[in-house]
Amino acid sequence: MRVLVLVGSMRKGGNTHVLARSFAEGASVHNDVEIVSVSDYDVKPCTGCNSCYRSEGNRCCQDDGMQEIYAKLAVADVVAVASPVYFYGLSASLKAVVDRLHTPLRRTFRIKGLVLLLVGATELPDLFDSVVIQYEQVLRFFGLEDMGRVLVGGVKDEGDIEGNGGLEEAYRLGRSIW
Ligand SMILES: Cc1cc2nc3c(=O)[nH]c(=O)nc-3n(C[C@H](O)[C@H](O)[C@H](O)COP(=O)(O)O)c2cc1C
Repeated sequence: MRVLVLVGSMRKGGNTHVLARSFAEGASVHNDVEIVSVSDYDVKPCTGCNSCYRSEGNRCCQDDGMQEIYAKLAVADVVAVASPVYFYGLSASLKAVVDRLHTPLRRTFRIKGLVLLLVGATELPDLFDSVVIQYEQVLRFFGLEDMGRVLVGGVKDEGDIEGNGGLEEAYRLGRSIW
């Protein structure tokens, strides 16, 4: 299968990237894996114009970096969403990509399942709740399979995640996908 890992942190050496790489290493055992750092692409927020519902090929009127990400999503079987928790939500760069999936183009995708990888600084028991609820609602609405989640709290600065059990968990989750 093709596994696309969308990473929503600007910090290339940060905790989200380290977690995503661990997942990708495991997933590479049985699959083709691509990691996309969404901050490398200029993805503008959805304007809500709905012109993609009328345009030729459902093309978005915004000719930006999302066009390349659409092409990657079109051939993905599994998408892993990796984000730092920002104010109990996904990072803005990743949310922009998610919102740009408000398009009929997504009906042409063959994605069958999602993975959720999150990091956050605090160890509050409800740290991941709002993102997890959104993730579960998206799974349900689109009839997608939950292929697993790894949620790592208590990591704030770059490098904090080194030696964390979540990395092994992410590797094993990746390896279980085929
Ligand atoms: C704008 C912003 C908002 C944040 N909001 C939260 C939060 O609500 N809860 C929390 O535990 N950590 C929060 N954090 C901390 C990050 O989730 C944490 O530092 C994480 O490890 C960053 O991931 P990275 O190293 O991949 O960038 C926030 C950080 C930033 C920059």
